[in-house]
Amino acid sequence: MSTVQKTTREFTTHSADETIALGRELAEMLSPPKLVLLRGDLGAGKTTLVKGIAAAFHAAQEEDVTSPTFTLIHEYRGPAATLYHIDLYRVDTPRQLETLGLDDLIAENGILLIEWGEKFKRFERDKDVEIVLDRLDENERKITVGIFRH
Ligand SMILES: Nc1ncnc2c1ncn2[C@@H]1O[C@H](COP(=O)(O)OP(=O)(O)OP(=O)(O)O)[C@@H](O)[C@H]1O
Ligand SMILES: [Mg+2]
Repeated sequence: MSTVQKTTREFTTHSADETIALGRELAEMLSPPKLVLLRGDLGAGKTTLVKGIAAAFHAAQEEDVTSPTFTLIHEYRGPAATLYHIDLYRVDTPRQLETLGLDDLIAENGILLIEWGEKFKRFERDKDVEIVLDRLDENERKITVGIFRH
């Protein structure tokens, strides 16, 4: 089964705060369940975007959303959705991935927000949304949002 890109929208932000604000707006198109891939280099702003998304869902305060670098998964529970912010930068093999038990998280009201998920074919195949962040300048980011259907 192939993944088909339906629509793409492009944004430019000029500060971390603008990216957080964009995350709040994008949250509107993220009714659960969703698998969201966040793509971009180190420091591109993936985690910053999640701050806005989590805040919009009343799942966390912006400042409480931090990188799941070492714990790999952070869970934020909101009234309408449970967000799982996942960082796979240090996960390299399908076997390591397996031990995280992500399949159990793809529940009714779950939204998975995955950094470095493109390393694994299954996420490329199953993604609902892909957000690509490009660093244009110190404070400028191009943010491309693609919506997919299966
Ligand atoms: N327009 C912008 N949007 C987002 N972040 C920005 C912007 N301008 C500057 N920044 C800064 O860039 C950094 C982005 O860091 P962040 O942790 O969100 O990146 P990341 O993509 O999650 O990186 P990593 O792969 O290391 O987890 C922050 O220090 C933030 O303040
Ligand atoms: Mg990050």
